[in-house]
Order: sequence, then C-alpha cells, then structure tokens
Amino acid sequence: SAQHISLYEGKAKILYATDDPKILLAHFKDDATAFNAKKRGQIVGKGEINCTISSHLFQLLEASGIPTHYIDTPAPNQMRVQALKIVPLEVVVRNIAAGSLCQQTGLPVGKVLPYPLVEFYFKNDDLGDPLLTRDRLLLLSLATPEQLDQLKASALQINEILTDFFHKSRITLVDFKLEFGIDQQQQLRLGDEISPDTCRLWDESEEDPDRRVLDKDRFRRDLGQVEDAYQQVLKRVQETSRK
Ligand code: C5P
Repeated sequence: SAQHISLYEGKAKILYATDDPKILLAHFKDDATAFNAKKRGQIVGKGEINCTISSHLFQLLEASGIPTHYIDTPAPNQMRVQALKIVPLEVVVRNIAAGSLCQQTGLPVGKVLPYPLVEFYFKNDDLGDPLLTRDRLLLLSLATPEQLDQLKASALQINEILTDFFHKSRITLVDFKLEFGIDQQQQLRLGDEISPDTCRLWDESEEDPDRRVLDKDRFRRDLGQVEDAYQQVLKRVQETSRK
C-alpha cells in the first residue's frame, strides 16, 4: 500500500507517503550520526524519545502561533506531518557559545552571547553543510531577502518560546537548529524535528561542563550515559507540558 512507500531516508528519520499527498509519515530512528555521518551509532530508545519531545514542542509552538508541519503522533516513534517544499538551509540560533562557534571564533565555551545569534548553513552533505553569508545565500537563490528576514524573525520568536519552556524544565537552551519549508499556500512553516539531536541542552543544576550535557554532544564527544540524558530531557519536557 501507499503507506509503505518510503520517499526519503535521512540519517535520523524515514519519510513515508500516505494516501493523502499533502500528508507524510515520519518514522524516527534510533540511529545516530555526527560529523557529517563520519561517526555512526545507535541511541537505544532515541526514535521514540525524539518523536515525543518534538511532538510536545511543535504543539507548544503551534499554540503560540508559529506554523509548523506537525499534525499528530500516531505512535511514539511516528509523526504525521504536512508535506513541505524544504528550504535547503539549516537555521541555527545560539544563546551561549558552544560547538562550531567556539571552534571558528575562539569564543570560550559557555560564554553568554549579548544577543541571540542566527546563522544560516547550506543543507548540503557533499559540501559539509557550510556556513553561508547573506550575500552567498542570495547569490545561490536559496531564499529571497523577504524570506530571509522572515526566517530570522521566526527563528528568534521560536528561540524565546523554547528558551522559556526549557528554563521551566530546569534546562538551558544553548543553541539549536531549525529547518523550514513552504506549504501549499506558499507559507513558511517549521519542519524537521526539535530534540536533543538538534539542540544543545544543559542541566541548569549541574556546574560540571561534561555532566551538565543532556544532548547529542554526549554521543559526539563519547561522554557516556547518552540514553540517560535523552530520557532526562523527555521526562522534564513531559512534566513541563502537563503544567
Ligand atoms: O555544530 P554547531 O555548533 O554548529 O551546531 C549548532 C547547533 O545546531 C547544535 O545544537 C547542533 O546540535 C545543531 N545542528 C544540527 N544539525 C546539523 C548541525 C548542527 O542539529 N547538521
């Protein structure tokens, strides 16, 4: 049946067609990759955890007026989403210096930024997802100037909502990656997922720079207790969502 036609298999998800061409079924996998898939592994339970966390966060954003691709969650590791024409950009928002920002600028890890930084990366595995300048992005016609302004404004609004939500969960939202697409009405809509795979999340009650890490950096940097960290984020997100 059409239910089983896989349209696309990514590193963390498989997208299936459904009987309705406007609706796709996303299956969240336990597979984990890092450094452009040079490091591979599995995080047991990750598919269900990331799907459940993402579902909560998409519902939160929708309730705050942010259009997303989210429809519903028919199984713990399955999400029904609106089909979107994907904008080939990874939009990264940073509140605190970490990761590639530190590697490329020398800012110390943990430095609180004076304002949230919004960055655009070219979603292109062959090129290693390079950081783009505004001019390069326009040169490549990856977005119009209006779309760029809209993407930045939307990313900053999402940052405020998520920062507040994670703070209520005693978690610091350090940085995160978003992907957007265009729906049938030509409206920009948030796609992909929001999970410990795509966010840096630090436990507010931990001082130790390794122990505080509750996200995919545990896998990237072989810090151990990866599953525990993902479970901890799930538990706190569920608690905060119930309130
Ligand atoms: O590696 P970098 O510091 O640029 O990552 C910034 C944020 O974007 C991190 O939260 C990371 O998990 C996320 N990211 C992602 N997918 C990528 C690159 C970065 O989710 N391909």
